[in-house]
Formats: sequence, C-alpha cells, structure tokens
Amino acid sequence: MINEYIQSNQQRFLDELFELLRIPSVSADSRHKDDVRHAAEYLVKKLKDAGADTVELCETAGHPIVYGEKIIDTSLPTILVYGHYDVQPADPINLWTSPPFEPVVKDGDIYARGSCDDKGQVYMHIKAFEAMMKLNQLSCNVKFMIEGEEEVGSDNLGTFVKENKNKLKADVILISDTSIISLDTPSITVGLRGLSYMEVEVTGPNRDLHSGVYGGAVANPINILSMMIASMHDENEHITIPGFYDKVTELSAAEREEMNKAPFNLDEYKKELDIADLCGEKGYTTLERTGIRPTLDCNGIWGGYAGEGAKTVLPSKAFAKISMRLVPNQNNREITELFTKHFESLAPKSVKVKVTALHGGEPAVTPTDSRAFEAASSAFKEVWGTTPIPTRDGGSIPIVSLFKKELRLDTVLMGFGLDSDAIHSPNEHYGIKNFLMGIETIVSFYKHYSAK
Ligand code: BES
Ligand code: MN
Ligand code: MN
Repeated sequence: MINEYIQSNQQRFLDELFELLRIPSVSADSRHKDDVRHAAEYLVKKLKDAGADTVELCETAGHPIVYGEKIIDTSLPTILVYGHYDVQPADPINLWTSPPFEPVVKDGDIYARGSCDDKGQVYMHIKAFEAMMKLNQLSCNVKFMIEGEEEVGSDNLGTFVKENKNKLKADVILISDTSIISLDTPSITVGLRGLSYMEVEVTGPNRDLHSGVYGGAVANPINILSMMIASMHDENEHITIPGFYDKVTELSAAEREEMNKAPFNLDEYKKELDIADLCGEKGYTTLERTGIRPTLDCNGIWGGYAGEGAKTVLPSKAFAKISMRLVPNQNNREITELFTKHFESLAPKSVKVKVTALHGGEPAVTPTDSRAFEAASSAFKEVWGTTPIPTRDGGSIPIVSLFKKELRLDTVLMGFGLDSDAIHSPNEHYGIKNFLMGIETIVSFYKHYSAK
C-alpha cells in the first residue's frame, strides 16, 4: 500500500523537492537571508499540506526554525524529527556541471546543493508523514523541528530547545542527516564526532613591506603560520597539542575488531578521490581514523598577495581557519582552550597572534540497545532486505548531544546519503532510489516503533 502511494506520487514528490532545492538557502551568506526565510516558509506550507496541525515559523536571533506537529493520541509514543533546511555555500561554482540551485536528474541522481544535505533527507520525512496521513496509517505522534542554522553551528537552536522543553517533549529524536555504507549495505550511524572550529590571525610588521627591501630581516607571518600549522602533527600524524588526547576514550580490541568488519574497499576509496595513497594517524585503520579518532585540519589559509601575476610583498598578516574533530570524551570548550594556549605558545616574539573560537559541538554516541534502534534496524531489514550495520560517522551534528543534555532524549541517526554524494562539495547529488527507499524506511520505522 505504502509502496503504491509512493510510486503513484513519485513525480509530485520530486517536483516539490525540486522547488525547495531552487531556493538558495545558504545560511552562512547574509546576502541569502531572505532566501533562507523563503525555504522555511515553503516548508511551513508543505507541512500543513501534508496534514500537520500546528505549524509555525519560529523566530530566533538568526534564521527561523520551522516547527510542526500532529498529535493523534497522547497515549501513543511521540517522534521528534529534526533536520535542517539551510545549505552550504555552493562555491566553487565553476566546478559544478550544472547550476547548484537548478536541480537536474542525471543517472538517477538529483544534482543540486542540499539535495542530500539535508533538504532531500528532510523532505523524505514530510512525504512519509503525508503518506501515513493519507493512508490512515500514522501510528505515532510526530513533531517536526527543522532549523536553518545547522551549517553555521546551530547557535540559536540551543536557546530554542532550552526555552521549549515542554513543546518538544517526545520519546525519541529521529534524524536523517548522515549516510549509509552503500545501497547493498545499509547502516545506522551510532556515533558522530564533535567539533572545535578556530580562526587564527598572525601579525608581523604594521604594513605589507617590499619583500626585497625587508625580506630576510623581518618575520613573514605566512611563513610562520605555515610552520605553526605544520608543527601541530608529528611524524606519526599525532596531534602535538599537549593534553589533546588525555580524555579520548580508547575502544577495546573487540570493539575495534567489530567496527573494522564493515565493508571498506581501499582501492575504490582512493580511486574515487583520485589519490595515490592515504595519510593518517599511525596504528589506526581508515574507518577508525574517521570514526573514533580526533583530528586537526586547516580548512582555509590566506594572506599576502593572491591576485594575478606576481607582487613582491612581505605581508603584514596571515590567517587560517582550523577545525578539530572530537571524539568521546573530549570536550569542545576544553579542546578550544588547549588549542589556544598551545597556538599562542608556538608564536615567536617576532609576531603577534590572535585566536578566536568560531563554533563547536560535542561528540555523540547513540545507543544500540534501545527500542528506537531496534525499530530502525527492523525498518531497514524490512525495506532493504538486510540488517543494517552500526557505524561511526566522522561528521558532526552538535544538536544530538544537546538533545540528550537538555531533553534527556536519545537520537536515532537514520540517514540515507552516500559518502560519494559530494555533500559540501561541487556537484552534490542524492539518489532518487535513496530518496524513495528512505521514505519507505521512515514509514516502516513508525510502524515498528509503535508496535513494541
Ligand atoms: N549532515 C552533516 C553532518 C554529517 C555528514 C554527519 C555526513 C555524518 C555524515 C551536517 O550538515 C554538517 O555538515 N555538519 C557540520 C558541522 C556544523 C557545526 C558546521 C560538519 O560536520 O562539518
Ligand atoms: Mn546536514
Ligand atoms: Mn552539512
């Protein structure tokens, strides 16, 4: 029945999603402020159309949050669906093979910014809800909370959650904003890394100088910043910030063995990224390096002259954005402090440094012995024919730990993307198959969750 409904409405589902994808809701770019709001308004309308009772656009100090609910029977369990309608900037635009906000289908994949992260996955939930309403199959109460600031750190969502604990009362949080291993091997994410995101500024002389007249005698902030960044990894790719690993939870040999059973093809991995070799912390496999180990990466670096041709200049300033992915039991605030102290101590007297924390979030591990996890597992088994494998993803969704802290609720991370979907990259895409099977799996989740 549900299959039939999805099949006969498939084209409309896609048309509606495409309309959402055409709205460039880039939360990081203030020029898109109105577009972000338009995306929120569109979702308000679509939630109402799907059958939600109370639907509101909730104002925050930043971009609005979309809230909607359908309470059918207070004695039934309540599912709180979280997702985000904001997207990453599309640059570098010239590397897209089709315009990022004009969705097209190629080889069964929808190409557009946000197709996978996270508009496509949010829309599966709205259409699953619509289907259950139309078929009179909704077996749980449902609340939707869809935010517009996930890609910029969810700053105002924390306040919203703290101020609306009653409204958000539920039994479980359900999120589709992660990935599966492959269409043949579905998986459920059970761990996410945390994040500390820093910006650093290194200042040398009070103005850009002629690099011939002064070069050799005055500290060059770009040279120095590069050395400082490079020194933060040793020859084993260990991070050299004192105390950085102190709180890291080491997994047991048995746990590590278990997680390494997940299918992983090194050659395909390298081929897909066009790299000849991998690089990472000594003593750990690739799955461990992205799943259970913390990292430090420079995300951007600038300063001096980067325009056309040559300009002989010894720059006054150099900047970098540096992110650290955290694992249990590291803490964003503590790591931010350790980084700041260490970075300041690395600077020679010839320069001044300034360190700013941009945003962060805590790591999260979700239970595998809960009724909700069981329901998600049964749903995958029913729709995909295979029992899903629990995996730890390397990305971050800071709200997961906040939900646990503020609402005391566990999350089920039932995402349907693929690592190769190019989220945050040019040519982001999402499989129509993933989209449709995702809808079916979500419907099945409600059924199994209410049945127990
Ligand atoms: N959906 C991603 C996180 C993700 C992707 C988790 C794939 C697992 C697998 C999310 O939208 C995201 O990009 N989060 C940011 C963090 C945020 C604070 C900017 C991230 O991980 O960089
Ligand atoms: Mn996302
Ligand atoms: Mn993202």
